[in-house]
Amino acid sequence: MPAFEIIVAVAKDNVIGYKGQLPWGHLPRDLKHFRDITTGHSNSSIIIGYNTLNSLCRMFRRRTNLLPGRKIYVLTHDLQKMERFPDCIGVSNIDSIVRLGTRSRIFVAGGESIYHQFISLPQTRVVHMTRIIANYHGDTFFPLLPLNEWRSKKEEFHPSDEKNKHAMQFVTLMRA
Ligand SMILES: NC(=O)c1ccc[n+]([C@@H]2O[C@H](COP(=O)([O-])OP(=O)(O)OC[C@H]3O[C@@H](n4cnc5c(N)ncnc54)[C@H](OP(=O)(O)O)[C@@H]3O)[C@@H](O)[C@H]2O)c1
Repeated sequence: MPAFEIIVAVAKDNVIGYKGQLPWGHLPRDLKHFRDITTGHSNSSIIIGYNTLNSLCRMFRRRTNLLPGRKIYVLTHDLQKMERFPDCIGVSNIDSIVRLGTRSRIFVAGGESIYHQFISLPQTRVVHMTRIIANYHGDTFFPLLPLNEWRSKKEEFHPSDEKNKHAMQFVTLMRA
């Protein structure tokens, strides 16, 4: 059985998205954090939902080479839609992901529907959470984590600066 690591950025009240985008726009420190965590292993896979794939394409303004060095698995019920994304692997159900080998690190990177499905799996052991210190209106949210099931192992604070309009905290949570 593979183990899953969730990676997510949340604003206050667990807001993660609005109208298919990240509500806070561009925060280079968090993007670098995402890259640092998900690369540098011999074999990294990223799991996302179809809406998040579209959100990434809009953000990078391209459909290929979205997350270099990482294999992207996209959950969708309609695999035909994946023909437009030659670099990504379409997957039509969560069981195929659960059957993935254990040789790679597998990061679950959103959006809301995907986080909800993976957070309750016992194989999901780690949550890499960026807490963005800001209020945003949102239409998609990260699930509330029961405090008795998750323990914070590492917390790192970064103030805002000229390139990052919000302060943020990188938190690593482990299943208790
Ligand atoms: N802050 C963050 O860290 C972060 C990270 C990622 C995303 N986001 C945000 O989250 C929002 C998107 O979240 P979302 O919940 O709307 O969309 P999503 O989870 O990215 O994608 C949902 C889609 O995934 C497919 N899907 C989900 N579960 C499936 C399953 N079990 N089997 C097959 N297909 C499945 C379906 O696609 P089909 O309709 O094609 O079948 C579904 O419509 C955006 O605003 C994005 O910017 C934020």
